[in-house]
Amino acid sequence: MTEHSISIEKSNSLKVKPSDESLAFGRHFTDHMFIMDFKEGKGWHNSRIVPYQPLMLDPASIVFHYGQTVFEGLKAYLTKEGKVKLFRPNKNMERLNRSNDRMCIPRIDEEFAIDAIKQLVSIDKKWVPSTSGTSLYIRPFIISTEPYLGVAPSKAYQFIIILSPVGAYYKEGINPVKIAVENDFVRAVKGGTGEAKTAGNYASSLKAQELVADKGYAQVLWLDGLEKKYIEEVGSMNVFFKINGEVVTPELNGSILEGVTRNSVIQLLRHWDIPVSERKISMEELYESYQQGLVEEAFGAGTAAVISPIGELAWQGNTLVINNHKTGQIAKKLYDTLTGIQYGIEEDLFNWTLEVN
Ligand code: COI
Repeated sequence: MTEHSISIEKSNSLKVKPSDESLAFGRHFTDHMFIMDFKEGKGWHNSRIVPYQPLMLDPASIVFHYGQTVFEGLKAYLTKEGKVKLFRPNKNMERLNRSNDRMCIPRIDEEFAIDAIKQLVSIDKKWVPSTSGTSLYIRPFIISTEPYLGVAPSKAYQFIIILSPVGAYYKEGINPVKIAVENDFVRAVKGGTGEAKTAGNYASSLKAQELVADKGYAQVLWLDGLEKKYIEEVGSMNVFFKINGEVVTPELNGSILEGVTRNSVIQLLRHWDIPVSERKISMEELYESYQQGLVEEAFGAGTAAVISPIGELAWQGNTLVINNHKTGQIAKKLYDTLTGIQYGIEEDLFNWTLEVN
């Protein structure tokens, strides 16, 4: 049972906002946050918007020990008419509940959560940056708060939403990034938690990322956890390759995150009659196509990264230079269209945006 009214306590010491130019990703936080509690037998209750503040948690809270937690990421944009719009929040809340199911966390009421996001963004509306390429990143997350050291689903949770004005996720911005294909570590396995947006997937990715960062790679490209053969995802984004006229992205197989931007890209490509397929694709196949000169473009797609062209892939001692380190036509068109819809410059053909009043 969800209680449907949100109490509001406004902050009386507002922060100094950072300039749009100084925004990177996820370093600044707004004046308010949303919190709602869950207790077994009582359900979700006490929903409130309060001044942004530290949490007071028991050190035995399950989240600290066993990582029973899920999160989401979506954005609010300032349109050219000065309206604030969310992009497909329903998809994020659906996914949050799928992650909840996987992690034994009680479901939230999706409509209510969208309303909470709208109310919070509305209160901190001044924080939505206006420069092109910037937005207000919305981070809903749920933590398990029962103090207990046994390995079992928590009987208490907090659902929290925080907001962060952001610029580009990668320092390269919309310029092509270099990615290293990971041959040793794996991100997820079939039957594991790869499909859920849960902290452990990201914690386990850090080592591989740390090892390639020194060599100038922005991220790693993960292969399947069983054979280390098939391409999965980058971790902060899904991947697409344009091979001989067709756009290919790995099919959802239980260990890949079902990205909202991934879904939007596929819909746009179909709308433009550009051949697109979701299927298994191995690194061997990609490399063979590359040697035949058939790999025309590669790019990642994600909420934080939007569309991020991939200019170079390193794999088993080979360097695949893609489209001469330049942004490809499709990546550019997708970036322009997606951001065009988000900033209200292009027609919202699929009714993807939701206005915040
Ligand atoms: C997003 O794109 O919103 C993500 O969650 C990726 C990353 C920042 C963890």
